[in-house]
Amino acid sequence: MAPEAAPHIRVLLGAILRAVAPVSGTWLDGTFGAGGYARGLLEAGADKVIAVDRDPLAFEMAGAWSAIWGDRLVMAPGTFSSLDELAAAAGFPSLDGVVLDLGVSSMQLDQAERGFSFLRDGPLDMRMGQAGLSAEDLVNEASEALLADILYHYGEERAARRIAKAIVAARAEARISRTGQLAGIIEKCLPRAKPGQSHPATRSFQAIRIAVNDEFGQLAEGLQAAERALKPGGALAVVTFHSLEDRIVKRFLQDRASTGGGGSRYQPEQAARAPAFTLTPRRAIAPEAEEIAQNPRARSAKLRVARRTETPAEPVSRDVLGLPDIGGLT
Ligand SMILES: C[S@@+](CC[C@H](N)C(=O)[O-])C[C@H]1O[C@@H](n2cnc3c(N)ncnc32)[C@H](O)[C@@H]1O
Repeated sequence: MAPEAAPHIRVLLGAILRAVAPVSGTWLDGTFGAGGYARGLLEAGADKVIAVDRDPLAFEMAGAWSAIWGDRLVMAPGTFSSLDELAAAAGFPSLDGVVLDLGVSSMQLDQAERGFSFLRDGPLDMRMGQAGLSAEDLVNEASEALLADILYHYGEERAARRIAKAIVAARAEARISRTGQLAGIIEKCLPRAKPGQSHPATRSFQAIRIAVNDEFGQLAEGLQAAERALKPGGALAVVTFHSLEDRIVKRFLQDRASTGGGGSRYQPEQAARAPAFTLTPRRAIAPEAEEIAQNPRARSAKLRVARRTETPAEPVSRDVLGLPDIGGLT
């Protein structure tokens, strides 16, 4: 039985469906979660949706409703970094559309035992895929320098060094194994939040979650896998929830939709080339005030949509995407 969890309210689905209309053919939902996007795509006219998620919980929860879609909904557990391989293994080597709705689901966040939340005490876990190195491993074993880099680069935490130092001092006394313990250590390093400000541990928890799940590496690989799998005319729609994620998507699409030349601080002068995507529309789409009022999680969401051209896929370097080059535990 799936554990008790609040349903995940889907963000920006209406905007996606408007931007990619008419929906038909085979789509891949790389972040299946509670299935809100997959259902929306099937209802809008997709023949098939391949549902990818790294969390077994997503498929466990879909058990209750997925059968009504029969073979139009194909479950493909795994990470979206290899979405082209997952789609090919399911029998669909080329796709009409790919959607990604980044980050954690409400079900993951709300379950204390998953360890994502500083508001609900639980084991310090944070693994979306429920396997591999946990946040507890990272927090107790990473060097002080690596912890500071993670907090700074993945959380934009200005007090990164101070917090890393406090973590190292605390773990010398006792292993840090609970979210509440870690939140307490971080809170002591920072001024109390003023009304309307986010909890002091917000940025650090985001940073540790990104590191544990290699979220930026997954995103960089996933965008390139989508480029390889999409048919000419196929749509890519990505919803992000913070500026660091959006920057990676924006840089990827700017690079792959460019015709070369130019040159910038991040990119050397390039030879003229045919773009692999066209941006549709050019800028990111934000939620309407009404959606934000109904679902506060939508507040920071941004949607970017692009259409694949016939140009063959090419790899994109980490530099172009602006991925911070920081080490890992392994
Ligand atoms: C924000 S939720 C998606 C919610 C979904 N759109 C819905 O309407 O229910 C993100 C989901 O993506 C999954 N996820 C995050 N990163 C992933 C990755 N790299 N590969 C596969 N699944 C991932 C998470 O486990 C989570 O279930």
